[in-house]
Amino acid sequence: MKLSPKMIKALNDQVTLEASASNSYLAMASWCEVTGYQGAANYFYVQSDEERTHMLKIVHYLNSLGTITTIPATKATISSYKSLEVLINTALKNEQAVTKAIHNMVEIAQKEKDHSTYVFLEWFVNEQVQEETKFETILQKFDLLGRDKLGINEIDKFLATEATAPTDPAA
Ligand SMILES: [Fe+2]
Ligand SMILES: [Fe+2]
Repeated sequence: MKLSPKMIKALNDQVTLEASASNSYLAMASWCEVTGYQGAANYFYVQSDEERTHMLKIVHYLNSLGTITTIPATKATISSYKSLEVLINTALKNEQAVTKAIHNMVEIAQKEKDHSTYVFLEWFVNEQVQEETKFETILQKFDLLGRDKLGINEIDKFLATEATAPTDPAA
């Protein structure tokens, strides 16, 4: 089977999005580490690696169908944040944009009756539900635990445990 040029373009654009997400989480990890949020730093280092595996999934999929992936140059990332809450909010916004892009690809696959890509994208659809929930849960903690030093410290501890939590075995 052959992918349509439109689908190839969409998948390639998704490689760019996943690469950008990986870089941006790496920058967030770095900011957290320097600021003294060690739990959050570990959490975002893991996130950054995860985004790279997402990118690789798409690269392998394209390659398996005989399409050489165009590896993109990515834009410079934001390197400084006002607060941990702003940072988490940025991450959530980023995930929401990724979800939109994935849903858009699903629609292309449906329209083109591209069953192979449709099934391939199912994993990403589920993954995005989890990703958005993860960041929404962290954001909630600011209301629940507070935004003072003690509250932030508790959130950092929570992120430390999340960073080491076993990832979905189906991933
Ligand atoms: Fe991703
Ligand atoms: Fe993600």
